[in-house]
Amino acid sequence: MIFETHAHYDDARFDDDRDILLSAMPQHGIGRIINVGASVASSRASLKLAETYDFVYAAVGVHPSETACLSEESFDWLKRQTNGSKVVAVGEIGLDYYWEKESAVRRLQQHWFRRQLELAVLSGLPVIIHSRDAAADTLRILKETAGKITGVIHCYSYSPELAEELIEMGFYIGVGGVVTFRNAKKLKETVSRIPSDRILLETDCPYMAPEPHRGLRNNSTLIPFIAEQIAAQKGISREEVERITWDNAMRLFFHTKRESSGVSPQ
Ligand code: NI
Repeated sequence: MIFETHAHYDDARFDDDRDILLSAMPQHGIGRIINVGASVASSRASLKLAETYDFVYAAVGVHPSETACLSEESFDWLKRQTNGSKVVAVGEIGLDYYWEKESAVRRLQQHWFRRQLELAVLSGLPVIIHSRDAAADTLRILKETAGKITGVIHCYSYSPELAEELIEMGFYIGVGGVVTFRNAKKLKETVSRIPSDRILLETDCPYMAPEPHRGLRNNSTLIPFIAEQIAAQKGISREEVERITWDNAMRLFFHTKRESSGVSPQ
């Protein structure tokens, strides 16, 4: 079975066939899916999907590029959702300097990144981190909660050395369609170097479709193309990659939950 750790099935690109697609996932060997919130609205939509499908779980959080939708009031709403029985992570949260060049807005991203990390500490949930062109600040901020937090750096795009440092801090590395791209030398090297028990499979669908579907709408049934490439880098079978990454996701999202906060799971 495959554990898909990062999907956005609430996206409008699934409006025409969302139910057909999702209902067929177990037949395609997709055993569990985390639908990841990127705004208040999509966090709400993720909760709804998790309510509808027993194999879908939700992450609630606000993406750095969407932090304008956050206020103390919406943050409180987010906080309340972390108690939900199918909420397995706070995410996706982080920093995105690729799209944002202005320092005042970058500071605002950092503010809400810290606040949402605190939320994860409070709730005992792992985090799903989005970080683009912001390696130094992401590492600096994550170090502030070192030892109190675990999670995944989703769609990992930095150096193998930084991956090793993040793993040392307790994080997992999310690997998606990019690893199948011919020019993804750095990510392939990262995958070769890091331990298999710290890799998670993800699509980030509808984005980031793997080869040979690059540029088309992505969905979780394409994960075997990603697993195949990881298997090639590691010199193991695709089935083994699927089995190991399933165990990794179970360990991170289902055994981390609320242990640290002492609040009993619902
Ligand atoms: Ni995403």
